Amino acid sequence: MMRVERAGRWSLIVSMLGVLMLSACVSMRAGGPTARAQAHTGLVAADHPLAAEAGAQMLRQGGNAVDAAVATSFALSVVRSDACGIGGGGFMLIHLNDDPRHGTTTVALNYRETSPAGVGPQTYAELDDPEASKRGGMAVAVPGTVAGLLHALETYGTLDRATVLEPAIALAEGGFDADAHHVRTARSLSDRFRRDARWRERFPLVWGGLTAQGTIEISERITLPGQARALRLIAEHGADAFYRGEIAEAIVASVTADGGVLTHQDLAGYAIRVVEPVSYELESHRVLSMPPPSSGGVAVAQILSLAERLDLTIPVTGWLEAADAHLLAESMKHAFADRSRHMADSAFTDVPVDQMLDDAELERVARSIEPNTVRDASAYGVIRVLPEDGGTSHISVIDARGNAVACTETINLAFGSLVGVRGFGFCLNDQMDDFTTIAGEANAFGLIQSDDNLPEPGKRPLSSMSPTIILDDHGEVVAVAGASGGPRIITSTAQALLRVLRGAATAAEAVDAPRIHHQWLPDAIFIETWDGVGPSTRLEAGLAKRGHALRERTDIGAVQLIRRDPQTGALDGAADPRKGGGVSGG
Ligand code: GLY
Repeated sequence: MMRVERAGRWSLIVSMLGVLMLSACVSMRAGGPTARAQAHTGLVAADHPLAAEAGAQMLRQGGNAVDAAVATSFALSVVRSDACGIGGGGFMLIHLNDDPRHGTTTVALNYRETSPAGVGPQTYAELDDPEASKRGGMAVAVPGTVAGLLHALETYGTLDRATVLEPAIALAEGGFDADAHHVRTARSLSDRFRRDARWRERFPLVWGGLTAQGTIEISERITLPGQARALRLIAEHGADAFYRGEIAEAIVASVTADGGVLTHQDLAGYAIRVVEPVSYELESHRVLSMPPPSSGGVAVAQILSLAERLDLTIPVTGWLEAADAHLLAESMKHAFADRSRHMADSAFTDVPVDQMLDDAELERVARSIEPNTVRDASAYGVIRVLPEDGGTSHISVIDARGNAVACTETINLAFGSLVGVRGFGFCLNDQMDDFTTIAGEANAFGLIQSDDNLPEPGKRPLSSMSPTIILDDHGEVVAVAGASGGPRIITSTAQALLRVLRGAATAAEAVDAPRIHHQWLPDAIFIETWDGVGPSTRLEAGLAKRGHALRERTDIGAVQLIRRDPQTGALDGAADPRKGGGVSGG
C-alpha cells in the first residue's frame, strides 16, 4: 500500500538542500520560515515546496500557468494527502493574457464534489451515526479533481498529460519526507485511532500508512506506490481511468465496504461546471473570484469593498490598530451573515450574488457599522451556522506572459473521510460534511441551520474556498491569492490582499502579518498567536472596549500569494510559513 521509512542522515541532507534550492529566499517569522521568491520568469506558490517545484518544472519546460497549476495539484495529491488530492474536489480560476487560442479571458472551473444519487436531504437525520458525514463511506462525495485538472490542462494548457503528471508520479514512487505539517496533522488523529479498534480496521491507509500508527516523525520517508499507479493510469488513459476504469472499481468497492452509497453511475456521471467568475470593481482594481457554491468569492469581495468604504488603515506589517481591527471584524461578520443567509449551490438555489455585491447595499452596510461598538449577533442576519473544517490547499501561479491561476482544492477534514482507496494509496474526501446535514436541528450553539444547503443528488456543498485574482484598471494581473483553513480561508485571503492593496506590503509581508478572524457565529473575534507570542495587549484592550468577546488561536489560514508589477512583469511570491509552503520560479 505504502511505506514509511526512517530517514537516514544523507536523505535528510538531500531533502534540506532541496528545500533551500527550491525556495529562493527564506526569512524567519516567529512561527517559522516564510518561503518567498522574486522572478520575471513565472512563480508557483503552494503549501508544499516539492509541489511548487513540480509546477515550476512545467514553466521551465515552456508550459504556461495552467500546466504549472495542474502539475502542482497532482504533486500535492501525493505530498499533502491530508488536505487535497485526486479523491477530492476544488475550484480553479484561470486568467489568460492574450493567449493564442483563447485571447484574453477569465474562466472559473467548478470541480467541487457532488452528492451521490443515493443521498437526499433526510439521509443523515435517519442515520444512527453522528459522524456519518465526517468519517467513513457515507461521508464520501463524488470526487471532481481529476476531471477538473484534466479539463484545465486539455483546454487551457500546452503540455501533455504524461509531462504534467511526471513529477507527481516520481514523488509517489520515490517518496518524500514527512514535514511538520504532516506530522502535526497525523498526530491530531492518533488518540482516536488508539482508542478505537474499529477505526484501525476501517482506515488502514491512514493508520498503518500515512500516520505510521501514530508514530510518524519529521523526515520519515513516505512512498505511495499505489497512488503512483493511479497517476500512471490517469496519465495513460485520462479521466476515464478514474471515473470508469480500474480506479473507479476500487473507489466503489472501498466506499461500499465502509457502508457508503457512491456508485459507478455517480462516478461515470460526474461533470465539471465551467462558469463565469464573480467580477467586482474595487476602485482601480477588479476582483475576480469564484461564484457559488463558493461562498468565498463573494465574501472576499464584500470584505475588501467594506474595508475600502470604511477607509481602513492597513499597516505593512504588525497588528492593525484596534479601531481598524474592529471595523474589519464587523465587515467580516456582515459577509459571513450573508453567507449563511443566501449561499448554497446556485444550480439548486437562487443565490442573489448581484444583490450581495450591490454598491448601494454595501454602502448601506458600511454606514451601519458602529465605530465604537458591536451589535447583537441577530443584527447582522438570520442565525444559521457554518461547519468547521480545516483541510484544503491553495496554489497561486503567474507565468512570464502574465497568465494567472488561483486554485484551491480540498478533501475537507484531515485525510478526508479516512477511507483509503484499496490498492491506490489515496484518501477519499468527506465533502458531504460541507452540506447542512440535518435540517432544523439545533447545533452545539443552539442555532438552527439553513436548509438551502441540504444534500440532494448531484448537488455541490457550500464551500469557503476563495481563489482570487486581482487585475488593475488595464486588465493586467497584479495579484493572485487564496488560502486553506476552513472558514478562515475567507478572512485570511481578504487580509493578505488588504495588506497588498491598502498597505503596499510585499508578498512575504502580506502572508506573514498576524491575522484576526470573525465568522459572525460564534460571536467572538479570534486573534492569532504563534510560538508562545500573544497578540498585543493594546489591540485586545481596544477590541474588548468595543464589546468583542476575545479568543486566541494559532494559524488563521495558510495563504499563498503572488504579486505582479504590471509595468515590468516582475513577480514577488510567498507561501505561508504556518503550513510550511514553498515558492519556485520558472
Ligand atoms: N472543505 C472546505 C471548503 O470547501 O470550504
